[in-house]
Amino acid sequence: MPTINKTNNPLILAIDTSCDETSAAVTKGVIVLSNVVASQVDLHKNYGGVYPTLAKQAHKENIDLTIKKALAMAKTNFNKLNAIAVTQGPGLAPALEIGIAKAKILAKQYKKPLIAINHIEGHALSVLAKPSRRNLPKSLTQSLAQNSLKHQQNQALKFPILAIVVSGGHTQFIYIKKIGQYLILGQSIDDAAGESLDKVGRMLELGYPAGPVVEQLAKQGNPQTYKFPLPMTTSKNYNLSFSGLKTAALNLINNTNCAVSRVSPGLINRLNAQQTADFCASYQQAVFKHITYKLKKLLTDLNKNHLAPNCVIKPSQLDRQAIQQIWLGGGVAANIALRAALRQTLKPFGLKLITPYSKKLCGDNAAMIGLTAFFKWQNKKWLRNIDQLDREPRLSISL
Ligand code: KG4
Ligand code: ZN
Repeated sequence: MPTINKTNNPLILAIDTSCDETSAAVTKGVIVLSNVVASQVDLHKNYGGVYPTLAKQAHKENIDLTIKKALAMAKTNFNKLNAIAVTQGPGLAPALEIGIAKAKILAKQYKKPLIAINHIEGHALSVLAKPSRRNLPKSLTQSLAQNSLKHQQNQALKFPILAIVVSGGHTQFIYIKKIGQYLILGQSIDDAAGESLDKVGRMLELGYPAGPVVEQLAKQGNPQTYKFPLPMTTSKNYNLSFSGLKTAALNLINNTNCAVSRVSPGLINRLNAQQTADFCASYQQAVFKHITYKLKKLLTDLNKNHLAPNCVIKPSQLDRQAIQQIWLGGGVAANIALRAALRQTLKPFGLKLITPYSKKLCGDNAAMIGLTAFFKWQNKKWLRNIDQLDREPRLSISL
């Protein structure tokens, strides 16, 4: 039996091995004491995406050291912990297994309660993380981080909230009635936004993951150069689809004439450097326009309390009150152009965009798992039987 210490501010070791980052973090309430992310990017680069068996092997090799570093950086040890938290899903089954197996062993060995977490809930709540004053370097970053700390402390939680999760695996509009009660109002029916940036980046030989490279190149490009359709304007719900944009990208690249041909085996980029930058700017804009178009439609309908008839959620399931806050999470949330496009869309609705205090909290990381576990801890939602915990690769956040 685990020892339960009834603190309101639990010290939690969190583990996330949902995809290609092995991460461990120590959180105290919503304060991040450490957040170690061991990236496997170099391993998967040659495959242009995550290779599950390699990911599993790398998680196995990295997990002990990652946990050790997280505890050391937080200046704590296993005995001082109040609980252990681990991502149960969604994610890659072989990858999830490693984190779960390790968390079970540690929870048993140190008699700690174990809390199972939904990775998407972690992304959705990541804006709530606060930096630890203790870990701040004595430099400019200190005042910056303290400003953000103050900003967030003044930011009282007001429900209902709309969380926009934009990652490599998911693109979802999540209605938060309160912490722990979620409804998916719309989501991608095929590729996720990050996945689509990665796939088109691959066509342009930009490496993996391509999202951040696309963002950088887009800054030097003209977004008007290549024309993309706006998907799903006739569908009356709030779902998204990125696969059509991907096909349009493929056709455009193949049909573009250029002086410098850089075709290499298996890859198709025929664009020169300026064309590539223009392409990134145009494609990124198309992806973000699709998201903001659907967001605008959703907020407009929510304000009228009149959701599209084919939306899976009925207006009666929602609170009467209008959306109070907009939160952004997931790997693509690090993108400044996406943030700007969302802010622009939110302005007429009088809503501000709330983002995590650091970009590290956007991508996969265990700190978001630890702070989500804190809310479960408050509701005593640790596992009663540790052995029953199994990975759920398709776990949904919806009620
Ligand atoms: O949340 P995340 O780390 O993993 C998943 O849960 O999927 O998201 C990874 C995704 C990748 O597709 C990556 O290309 C994208 O986030 N990404 C970005 C940026 N940074 C990461 N996309 C656009 N701009 C960025 N700055
Ligand atoms: Zn993720």
